[in-house]
Amino acid sequence: MEAAIVTNGLTRTFDGLRAVDRLDLEVPQGIIFGFLGPNGAGKTTTIRLLLGLLEPTAGSAKVLGFDLSQADRIREHVGVVLEQPGLYTRLSAYDNLDFFAAAYRVPATQRKARIRDLLTHLGLWERRNDFVDTYSKGMKQKLAFARALLHRPSLIFMDEPTAGLDVPSAAALREDIVNLVRGSGTTVFLTTHNLAEAESMCDLIAVINKGKLVTVDTPDRLRTGARKPQVRIVGRGFSPQAVDALRRLPQVISVTQSKGSLHVTIRRGDKVSPVVKALTEQGAEIEEVVHTTASLEEAFLALLDETDGQDGGESRGRN
Ligand SMILES: Nc1ncnc2c1ncn2[C@@H]1O[C@H](COP(=O)(O)OP(=O)(O)OP(=O)(O)O)[C@@H](O)[C@H]1O
Ligand SMILES: [Mg+2]
Repeated sequence: MEAAIVTNGLTRTFDGLRAVDRLDLEVPQGIIFGFLGPNGAGKTTTIRLLLGLLEPTAGSAKVLGFDLSQADRIREHVGVVLEQPGLYTRLSAYDNLDFFAAAYRVPATQRKARIRDLLTHLGLWERRNDFVDTYSKGMKQKLAFARALLHRPSLIFMDEPTAGLDVPSAAALREDIVNLVRGSGTTVFLTTHNLAEAESMCDLIAVINKGKLVTVDTPDRLRTGARKPQVRIVGRGFSPQAVDALRRLPQVISVTQSKGSLHVTIRRGDKVSPVVKALTEQGAEIEEVVHTTASLEEAFLALLDETDGQDGGESRGRN
């Protein structure tokens, strides 16, 4: 099956700043693809390039098999939820969807049922005749999502869809996204700063930093593979001398102590046995050694740290 999105060396510069820097991506069809990176990493710029809203400086991409020069065709087949919902605030929710359904050329005979289905599904049917400017932020986001789905797109771009929503609204929207997308073969390209959200929703996660792709992997493998190994050592007699001895070991990156246990970060590829040996030599008694799994947040920060160190100086720093 052809990928939903393929980019080859996709690049966009703004006054010499490489906002997107030789990006090679392949997004398989039918999955929820997370596109993560710090502020200014190039996520929104990438989406704008893929929608044909911005010209690449170099490189190329195909979206649903269409070249970026065929932006009209791309936009016919994709749905978008961008940072600004872009709704008509002086129209009702229903009229907004009716307007966009016509613009997307949803056949007139199907429009009404489609709008009713979507609004009912998202819990907005009762409020369909209210002006959008009386909607809360979360309701507007849901409506923007409904608009993105009107023409049954096979690919949806969502740029921080849950940003600024309260916990229940964000959870409800996430559930809606997953429910409406799963099993339908639709591909979702999603950016978020919420790592728990990315972890729970995404099949694959790409991390981008300073315009460059850092990695693409499943949330699980990102957590376990991208981090430096950590162990928690439970026991007694962890004297300051014992802790110092650990810190002097070449394998050990850091040691912290809490409630009778030590948290030791080890260099990748190194074993835990020298740590245990050093502790026992210092008279500590070890009851348990537990390998702890990093959170996606830790893995993400570690990846950014590593890539910040490799910067060739051609891009500006993050933030
Ligand atoms: N129209 C523009 N003109 C000049 N610079 C731009 C323009 N659009 C984006 N940039 C720059 O490109 C870089 C990437 O911006 P982009 O909006 O793609 O980041 P982002 O990953 O979406 O960040 P955020 O998480 O804050 O939304 C930033 O340094 C930004 O200042
Ligand atoms: Mg952005």
